[in-house]
Amino acid sequence: MTQREHFGSRAAVIMAMAGSAIGLGNIWRFPFIVGEYGGAAFILVYIICCFLLSLPIMLSETIIGRRTHQGTFGAMNALAPGTAWKWLGLLTVLSPLIILSYYSVVGGWSFAFLCKALALQFQPDNAESVTAMFGTFSSSTWWPLVCMMVFLFLTALIVYFGVNKGIERFSKVSIPVLFVLIVIIAIYSMTLPGAGEGVRYLVKPDFSKLTPDAYAAALGQSFFSLSLGVGTMLTYASYVRKDENILLSGTGTAFFDLLFAILAGFAVMPAVFAAGITPSSGPGLVFETLPFIFAKMGAGAQVISAVVSILFFLTILVAALSSSISMMEVGVAYLVEEKKQSRHNATIILFLITLVVGILCSLSFGVLSDVKLLGNTIFNFCDRLASNFLMTIGALLFSVFVGWKMDKAAVKDELTNGGKIKSSGKLFPIVYFLIKYVAPVTIAAIFIIGLLG
Ligand code: PFF
Repeated sequence: MTQREHFGSRAAVIMAMAGSAIGLGNIWRFPFIVGEYGGAAFILVYIICCFLLSLPIMLSETIIGRRTHQGTFGAMNALAPGTAWKWLGLLTVLSPLIILSYYSVVGGWSFAFLCKALALQFQPDNAESVTAMFGTFSSSTWWPLVCMMVFLFLTALIVYFGVNKGIERFSKVSIPVLFVLIVIIAIYSMTLPGAGEGVRYLVKPDFSKLTPDAYAAALGQSFFSLSLGVGTMLTYASYVRKDENILLSGTGTAFFDLLFAILAGFAVMPAVFAAGITPSSGPGLVFETLPFIFAKMGAGAQVISAVVSILFFLTILVAALSSSISMMEVGVAYLVEEKKQSRHNATIILFLITLVVGILCSLSFGVLSDVKLLGNTIFNFCDRLASNFLMTIGALLFSVFVGWKMDKAAVKDELTNGGKIKSSGKLFPIVYFLIKYVAPVTIAAIFIIGLLG
């Protein structure tokens, strides 16, 4: 058997985990949700959610992964042999693949729009038709498929090179670059005339908008943004060395993800308001509104607007890639460890499987738009299934596993590196309380209220 790879340093661990976390969720979902649910008031709820509910889940996954040094399925089997917990292992092999399939469609759009920005297609004299560009493009058959394939191919290529030469190397370069890019774009965006309204949209607390579903939205967003409940953090943690401080890497990852989301908010919203547009959500915001803004701004400052549009779509593409590789790695770990495939074969198999589902997701914007699963298009079905259901169930079960099934001494041993990390030892009672009681009870309550509502 070949030696299992490990991330080379603490920086590598945090960059890889932050790479998984920072993605499309930060750039198009977060800014919109913030405004929708009360600006700064929601950011406050979101921060509390991240640190009181999502961080314990992240740590639960990290504890399981690092303890066993195995992927999701092997880890559950190692810690609870011959029990039904293996189903959680199996579920979390499948759920990231479902996410990867539709995520790649959006990754493909990012690639396509980067090409459009490079080809200087967002021009002042065609500002109106720029908005329609996305609808025409995404509902067509071939180009979105080609672009999705390119995106999936790039994902597979990075994963193919392995944990050190692929994932670690890519994340160590891409994460710092992403931060630099998003800061540049935020500065540009906030200095546009009329940008103040957008800044206010993000920072003005409006507590009246904190309805019960704002809490569910905050929780769902933080799970998606931190890649939780689907085994990606578990799998990455299985490549973390025994002497690494996992409490620190987990907290660092949550911090960087939050910081990036807030920066993305300041990059996107001021520009949207400066252009006098009411913000829309999801794909519409990134692929319709922003190209329109770039086109309009080209009137005064063509070169700057072209450069910013290129940087913007490059940021989205790189952020999406650093997340998609983590989704594919979960399946690769499974095939390599449990099915004794080589990494090369495993990558090719997963590339082909996600390609097939991805094609269906992509076509659901065009020729397959009439095909409905429980009332949703194929793309929306995969998205809802994963983010409303699979992630929550997975997150809940991981915390129940660590809090109630694993031996408390083993959990403490893992979090403190056998008692060597004194600060983690001091914090252990709080962290354990969050994992055992606070996270599962609150998540279950929010989930049930959501189902009933
Ligand atoms: N965290 C990623 C984002 O914010 O875009 C999405 C994601 C990555 C979800 C990895 C799930 C996952 F396993």
